Amino acid sequence: MTVKKELPKFWAVVPAAGVGRRMQSSLPKQYLTIQERTILDITLHRLIACASLEKILVVVSPDDQYWQSLDISQHEKIETVFGGEERCHSVLNGLKTLALQADDNDWVLVHDAARPCLRLADLEKLIAELQEHPVGGILGMPVRDTMKRVEVNGAIIETVDRTALWHALTPQMFRIGLLRNAIDDAVNSGQVVTDEASAIEKKGLPLKMVEGHSDNIKVTQPADLALAGLYLDQQH
Ligand code: CTP
Ligand code: MG
Repeated sequence: MTVKKELPKFWAVVPAAGVGRRMQSSLPKQYLTIQERTILDITLHRLIACASLEKILVVVSPDDQYWQSLDISQHEKIETVFGGEERCHSVLNGLKTLALQADDNDWVLVHDAARPCLRLADLEKLIAELQEHPVGGILGMPVRDTMKRVEVNGAIIETVDRTALWHALTPQMFRIGLLRNAIDDAVNSGQVVTDEASAIEKKGLPLKMVEGHSDNIKVTQPADLALAGLYLDQQH
């Protein structure tokens, strides 16, 4: 009898446990609305539209007052996990919960709740370009402007060669076991990693950049809300 090896599955973890300090709003930015829908709802529908994803683990703050009142929190593909102090702790909690049902060789796509303009085509491109890769990679964009290194007082030191510089976006897609160990080790040694890729880089593992689109912005500052609204309009 031959035992057929199962193909790796795809899962998502959506960190949504931040407070959105830079947004200067009374409620966490993932609950602000664009065209009468919360940012979190828009983001999650982008992921639900991708049929390859088994489940989406949404990581919310233990103090969250809003998540359970969104209809989408009851969706069959969605599960809720509690987050931690920094984004990396929230993602790690999501990955540890995922370990209860996923295989270490499966894939996880980590996508910021605050990026509602992710195109389904980019999500599918990321999966298509990485699914044979041993480790994984991320969506990104080459920088366009001339880049300067600047001192804290504003003095310009030099121009940095931009040809090798990319913006790191999300989703970031990695083998679940590798990513969980990489973030666990970073956190245990007291390092706060700002994205999944940097934890993988610290391990010296190979990872790939996949070009996405610049409308995949992270809503960060008040002006980004209107910008995200324009991008969403344009995408329809
Ligand atoms: N995030 C999280 N857990 C944290 C901090 C952030 O899950 N402890 C999430 C945010 O909800 C967001 C994503 O990580 O979807 C990206 O983080 P960021 O844009 O920095 O969001 P905030 O930390 O909420 O914003 P700010 O840094 O301005 O406070
Ligand atoms: Mg933050």
